[in-house]
Amino acid sequence: MNFALQPMNEADGPVVLEIYRQGIATGNATFETETPSWENWTAGHLAHSRIVARNGPSVLGWAALSPVSSRCVYAGVAEVSIYIAEEARGLGVGRALLEELIRQSENNGFWTLQAGIFPENEASIRLHKSCGFREVGRRERIGKAGRPLARYSARRKAQQDSTAYLGRAEPRPRPKPVRTPLSHCRKTRDSYQRHRFSDAAKSLALDAP
Ligand SMILES: CC(C)(COP(=O)(O)OP(=O)(O)OC[C@H]1O[C@@H](n2cnc3c(N)ncnc32)[C@H](O)[C@@H]1OP(=O)(O)O)[C@@H](O)C(=O)NCCC(=O)NCCS
Repeated sequence: MNFALQPMNEADGPVVLEIYRQGIATGNATFETETPSWENWTAGHLAHSRIVARNGPSVLGWAALSPVSSRCVYAGVAEVSIYIAEEARGLGVGRALLEELIRQSENNGFWTLQAGIFPENEASIRLHKSCGFREVGRRERIGKAGRPLARYSARRKAQQDSTAYLGRAEPRPRPKPVRTPLSHCRKTRDSYQRHRFSDAAKSLALDAP
């Protein structure tokens, strides 16, 4: 299938939400049961790395990132959202979008991407695994329905992976100064939140795909 990967723009809002609705309807993509307003969707996702796959005027799918926490230590960690229109699934669109999302996330200084995937969502598991994600754990009884949720993570960049140093006795090597999301970090959490994340993004839970 022919398509081009392009930045998502405001005019794509309705079709992005319609494709999200189709994903919700599978029952295996997300805990969400209702499509958000465009304002809520846009407030919950990072402003960069919003990508659509276009075939002429049609949007076939989209990918975007959400912050996982307002704490500075997680500044380079983001959650993947990827949704393909019903008629375009299984044709390689998801793979192309996820690869491009990873590339753009790295260009924006992100070092780890994660995804919460229901074990029944075979297509999403295959897609993430083939792009370098691995299962790092399973949460039981998350959400009202009590469904288990597998957590997939990909450490995309060698730099500044703070979690890798937890518990080490020796001082952590100083990373080379590069422009990462931490460059935007302020000393207090409040100022960091004001600077980087919207109110809606602040309330995002780690285990809510
Ligand atoms: C999951 C989803 C994003 C995958 O995108 P896609 O464009 O359909 O997938 P692709 O055609 O790029 O295929 C990617 C991989 O998944 C595999 N795959 C695709 N559809 C599959 C299916 N129905 N069952 C099992 N594997 C499948 C492909 O064989 C391919 O595997 P490979 O890389 O090992 O060769 C898409 O199906 C979708 O939007 N589903 C509904 C919303 C959703 O679940 N989003 C993810 C939430 S975590």
